[in-house]
Amino acid sequence: MEEVILDKLQRPLKDLRLSVTDRCNFRCRYCMPEEIFGPDYPFLASDKILSFDEMERLTRIFVSLGVTKIRITGGEPLLRKDLPELIQRLNSLAGVEDIGITTNGSLLKKFAPLLFAAGLRRVTVSLDSLDDERFTQLNGNRSKVGRVLEGIQAASDAGLNVKVNMVVQKGKNDQDIVPMARYFKENKHTLRFIEYMDVGNSNGWRMAEVMTKKDILDRIGKVMPLERIKPNYVGEVATRYRYLDGDQEIGIISSVTDSFCSTCSRARVSAEGKLYTCLFASNGYDLRHLLRSEDSDEVITDKITDIWHHRGDRYSDERASGESTKRSSKVEMSHIGG
Ligand code: GTP
Ligand code: 5AD
Ligand code: SF4
Ligand code: SF4
Repeated sequence: MEEVILDKLQRPLKDLRLSVTDRCNFRCRYCMPEEIFGPDYPFLASDKILSFDEMERLTRIFVSLGVTKIRITGGEPLLRKDLPELIQRLNSLAGVEDIGITTNGSLLKKFAPLLFAAGLRRVTVSLDSLDDERFTQLNGNRSKVGRVLEGIQAASDAGLNVKVNMVVQKGKNDQDIVPMARYFKENKHTLRFIEYMDVGNSNGWRMAEVMTKKDILDRIGKVMPLERIKPNYVGEVATRYRYLDGDQEIGIISSVTDSFCSTCSRARVSAEGKLYTCLFASNGYDLRHLLRSEDSDEVITDKITDIWHHRGDRYSDERASGESTKRSSKVEMSHIGG
């Protein structure tokens, strides 16, 4: 029987987000700007990265503490060799009810059928514009739009449910809000708009660049009226809306102007095996050294329980209410995958 463990704010541990690599074939300016993540950037060496055996063991332990939902992230998770094998292994674990993956879509054409065969049923693709010039500028000139759209099509053809994430930055891609909404309404994929966040230390975030939930809803609502609909589950990150003329829905992820820390049940483990209890944390707890020691599952379970019991993170709530959110440094998005 699974345990339920609660943190200091009475939040259970339900979701595990596993980063499988810190590398990416894109250089999105808000995540891995080229001038910082250049050819000499010290990415993790392969012996520092958790093996599939280690990830499977860790997942089993997390499941024993109440986790039912797994998300595979990166960097770009499809760069990790043999990723479908990991999906298949995690999918076979008793207690794992849902596995998702967050990808930039550039390698999906090749991998979608293999992922489906491994048991994956849904994928979230990041896409910030349908305009080639803007998209290439945003991703550091690594991919045109067509390649990602082909990936989305391949995923859909393979039988995967597809959601699309768009990070909106005022003055950079806010002109793409309505074209993106229209395109994915027609193509029947749920599009989620993400408020630009101050994650990591590299993106030079400014509040002036945030298109708020309200801004986004106003923009779309003027041409395609929307109504709010109920969440799918308690603690859902996106607020859901439906077009009045049909069933297609969209979501808004408003960590900046309407934060959702009070229901945050997410633990994140980086590719090197550090456990982070918040997307904006400065430090992670090194689980790798435990996994590579003689310690039993029980010792590791107790350690994770202890960390969760002491968890009081509510960064976005603090930012929203004007409390100090000063951090010496924050973990990079490419380390914990969003
Ligand atoms: P579903 O299972 O499809 O509902 O997935 P999800 O919405 O949890 O997954 P996804 O990884 O697509 O989350 C979308 C984006 O929301 C992430 O990439 C992050 O940018 C943001 N996000 C997710 N979780 C958190 C969180 O705990 N805090 C903050 N601030 N942002 C988050
Ligand atoms: N703000 C909001 N979303 C971000 N993502 C990456 N960096 C940021 C940021 N600064 C998104 C990606 C992807 C997911 C992993 O997180 O676009 O959809
Ligand atoms: Fe890569 Fe995703 Fe970061 Fe872009 S946002 S650089 S695709 S990990
Ligand atoms: Fe959870 Fe931290 Fe995001 Fe709040 S800011 S929802 S505590 S990850």
